[in-house]
Amino acid sequence: MEEVYPGRLFPLYANRAVANVSVLLRMDKERKLIVAGNWKSNKTNSEAVALVTDLIRELAAVKEVDVVVCPAFTALSDVSKLVLGSNIRLGAQNLSDSGYGAFTGEIAPGMLRELSVRYVILGHSERRQFQKESDALVAKKAANAHANNLIPIVCVGETLAEREASITEKVVETQVRGSLAGLTAEQVESTVLAYEPVWAIGTGKTATSAQAQEVHAFIRKVLVSMHGEAIARRVRIQYGGSVKGSNARELLQQPDIDGALVGGASLESKGFVEIIKNSI
Ligand code: 13P
Repeated sequence: MEEVYPGRLFPLYANRAVANVSVLLRMDKERKLIVAGNWKSNKTNSEAVALVTDLIRELAAVKEVDVVVCPAFTALSDVSKLVLGSNIRLGAQNLSDSGYGAFTGEIAPGMLRELSVRYVILGHSERRQFQKESDALVAKKAANAHANNLIPIVCVGETLAEREASITEKVVETQVRGSLAGLTAEQVESTVLAYEPVWAIGTGKTATSAQAQEVHAFIRKVLVSMHGEAIARRVRIQYGGSVKGSNARELLQQPDIDGALVGGASLESKGFVEIIKNSI
């Protein structure tokens, strides 16, 4: 699976600020950037087709970043046909914790696999908040994803009240451990994590690059304690929360930030393309 750990891409960083220690540290990183657009409950099928048609054209030359779009389920089939053979990969926004069967309203892994879906966003804070998804359920869905060759993008992040109460690390650690519980080391290695502080989602308030890096480094430390250094080093951790063209570069230059999970700015091609071009 070429997206998972395709090896160090030194040219990606060669034109970045050279005298910067964190950039030097990145040189031995084995993680390819991954930028995903989470379209949430936006775009009809025809609107999704129009957007992805623009993205395929605009991003045709991009090889340095894994680009993923995650439309609503209703648009997956048509978008799937369009991205076939392009450098854009397809993601879904949720997955059942079961297979086929009497589970009204659920989407089984085989339905996504047939449409060449590669990624599934799991445990997004909106689902944790509005559908009351627990870490245990997210872990079950993540295991189901791996069992069916889908790569989970597991989201974690604290609320504003939790940050203000200085319990960010405790909250994020509980979510990371709980949402990855039961996965093998190999499965964790190919899982993508997304740190999305709830207070930064859709609010226009982005975590500063230092704030984001601090939590990303902490998440990697938790992964080290769970599965050891070699595995933790290979897990890609995206940042999400009001990412746009103007802040993408600084965020993605941080040593432990390996991409972005983008909401609002992924809904029009100009904004999403700008983020990707600024991250290279
Ligand atoms: P925004 O980019 O709109 O803040 O949303 C982030 C997000 O929730 C991506 O999953």
